[in-house]
Amino acid sequence: PTALAGRHFLKEVDFTAQEFLGLLDLAAELKAAKKAGVETRYLQGRNIALIFEKPSTRTRCSFEVAAADQGASTTYIDPSGSHIGKKESAKDTARVLGRMFDAIEFRGDSQSTVETLAAYAGVPVYNGLTDDWHPTQMLADVLTMTEHSAKPVTGISFAYLGDARFNMGNSYLVTAALLGMDVRIVAPKAYWPAQEVVDRARALAESSGARITLTEEIAEGVAGADFVVTDVWVSMGEPQEVWDERITALAPYAVTMDVLRATGNPDVRFLHCLPAFHDLGTQVGREVYEKHGLESLEVTDEVFESAHSVVFDEAENRMHTIKAVLVATLA
Ligand code: CP
Ligand code: NVA
Repeated sequence: PTALAGRHFLKEVDFTAQEFLGLLDLAAELKAAKKAGVETRYLQGRNIALIFEKPSTRTRCSFEVAAADQGASTTYIDPSGSHIGKKESAKDTARVLGRMFDAIEFRGDSQSTVETLAAYAGVPVYNGLTDDWHPTQMLADVLTMTEHSAKPVTGISFAYLGDARFNMGNSYLVTAALLGMDVRIVAPKAYWPAQEVVDRARALAESSGARITLTEEIAEGVAGADFVVTDVWVSMGEPQEVWDERITALAPYAVTMDVLRATGNPDVRFLHCLPAFHDLGTQVGREVYEKHGLESLEVTDEVFESAHSVVFDEAENRMHTIKAVLVATLA
């Protein structure tokens, strides 16, 4: 068994910085082994339940491929595919699935649901995204940053532009604080993370040496950044009506070539957890773009398709890092 055997992963601070970085080392090893065709199957005979109350491309497929590569099997439970939250509580669901499965992944709105599953399942529970946190995404993002930077993690700086009050903004702030990075939240004040999240990050920064900046000024926020990152302006579960106010408030914070130039760093890299509204190729996007006369939202197609963009490395790393979580907690 590894040092993380039996552990849950509900939010970034469930792990110490050392544990978090250890998972990245394991992910890099597993990635190299898969590419070399010499992967060892540490999870033969294990069974993992994947509960999704919201849609997913990357997270679901990462868990399924990671488990299959490792010899484990998965059961995908779609948003209408079980009784959870309707005829059966999370507490009862946890006690049932915990008798059958070796681990449970959950994606949904409420952090309290994934915490309840963890409290009652008796097996490791992983947060595949809630409104509050997206911890498995953070492993992939930091791994991707280390792959595209010669600096140690503590030397890396990044600026997050956009709606920072939701899962991605919260997770970036706290992850950077945990790991001792230089993080800049660049958004209108109304879109900064909640005060309790900022307080938690500042407390972590005291021991990690992280630098935390919250600013409305784009030039100040992105100056010298190694990475510029963003996320959708309207998240899953939010009503379509909020698009209008979001576009009005956040349009100045869209990631454009000018924003990348403002970093002063010719090697700046762009990250996005995806899905991204960068072109006219999506249904939800098209309706919103037409109404507002826009061709992209949080990131321009020019940035997304440029050599600065490492979003598909980031997406691939979801699988390698989720595999590391599975191996570390279940092997
Ligand atoms: N980034 C991310 O979590 O993608 P999915 O919603 O496709 O899982
Ligand atoms: N903030 C986004 C992230 C998607 C991976 C959402 O919650 O929809």
